[in-house]
Amino acid sequence: KDDRGRRHFTLKARTGTSTLIPGKKTPTWGINGPFLGPTLRARRGDTVSVAFTNGLPETTTLHWHGMHLPAEFDGGPHQAVAPGEVWRPSWRLDQPAATLWYHPHPHGKTADHVTRGIAGLFLIEDEHSQDAGLPHTYGVDDVPLILQDRAFHDDGSLSLRGVSFMEELAGAGSLGVLGDNIFVNGTHNPHLKVTTRLLRLRVLNGSNARVYNLGLTDGRSFHLVAQESGLLSNPLRMRRLQLAPAERAEIVVPFEPGEKVVLRSYPPDLGVGFPNGRLDGGEDTFDLIQFRAGKTLRGSGEVPGKLPGAPEPPTAPGSAHRRYFELSGIQINGRSMDMNRIDQVAPARAVELWDVQGIDGVPHSFHVHGTSFSVVSYGGRPVPARLRGLKDTVYLRPQETVRLAVPMPEHVDPATPYMFHCHMLKHEDQGMMGQFTVV
Ligand code: C2O
Ligand code: CU
Ligand code: CU
Repeated sequence: KDDRGRRHFTLKARTGTSTLIPGKKTPTWGINGPFLGPTLRARRGDTVSVAFTNGLPETTTLHWHGMHLPAEFDGGPHQAVAPGEVWRPSWRLDQPAATLWYHPHPHGKTADHVTRGIAGLFLIEDEHSQDAGLPHTYGVDDVPLILQDRAFHDDGSLSLRGVSFMEELAGAGSLGVLGDNIFVNGTHNPHLKVTTRLLRLRVLNGSNARVYNLGLTDGRSFHLVAQESGLLSNPLRMRRLQLAPAERAEIVVPFEPGEKVVLRSYPPDLGVGFPNGRLDGGEDTFDLIQFRAGKTLRGSGEVPGKLPGAPEPPTAPGSAHRRYFELSGIQINGRSMDMNRIDQVAPARAVELWDVQGIDGVPHSFHVHGTSFSVVSYGGRPVPARLRGLKDTVYLRPQETVRLAVPMPEHVDPATPYMFHCHMLKHEDQGMMGQFTVV
């Protein structure tokens, strides 16, 4: 519903049946449909309200990943919605234009609920984003790509990847069993007809554990124009883009009339040695989607060299409070997630320096709720250009320390925590998560 300055979304999670692989019926979950959920769109300054009905047979939650909002509306493990109940969060959108997403977050069951199909995008526009010179007609030259891998049983049902002893024997890596069927917006092997010279792709790695390394099969370059949490002031030309679970990026790809080209995932550089690199998907290649350009294409082929309205990434003062997060053995700082323990307490709005390190030789994808951060250093080195800009999730190569400048949320609530955790969902579910409150 679209009233001036107000956006209301009526969402209902439900069970259903989908044809995900040819000839098989798969029991799935979705929002307002049998599989995945609608793209929600709103503008900075809008007041958003949601009526979320849980029509599933299990308690779940709906988390607004990347959203700056009060902890009580965050949709983390504390905002449980029992079957048949309705949850009504409401908040004022006050953050830069970005490609966010939503997904369930019930403690211990996130991987299961996301795999079954509860996930969708939440696009924020602001006063700059639609006249930045970037393609912005949704579904025409501004297209979301939700990348997810899934594994199936012979009867067509989804493998929910709780790693059993048998699966371990069969060669699951440290991330659990990766799926060999890749879905783009819920479709296997899709193609897209391109009608413009520039195509903007809002890519979400919505997978539980798989890392993608995106490139076009003819080697053409594209521009990175946004990170998870906002546009980049200087679009960056590149040929390969690696995305860890929950990372997003917006890229702009050029086309000539009549061309066909495939977006492929090449073997990602996980920073993990043999044999784990192989078990964790470090040698996998997948074709994701084919683009077919029309005989005549509209628009110009020019990507703006600068995006004037892009947000300034946060910097921390010399006196910034420092925190250290060591990820190992599915714990953070030697502790497993406990819903009743607050791990960190921080003053509202302060920009802190967080050093995050995985020390167990396993890949991790570190995410903080309720805010957007910038990467200050990566593995002790200056930040690679690809990681500049506003982010909310960052890949951790084993052993390397990543330093983040993290502005604390402005919403004070000593009683309700935000989460920080590994977004490899098996790790998260097993307890690699902690809680912070803002006071
Ligand atoms: Cu994408 Cu704690 O979540
Ligand atoms: Cu989140
Ligand atoms: Cu992890």
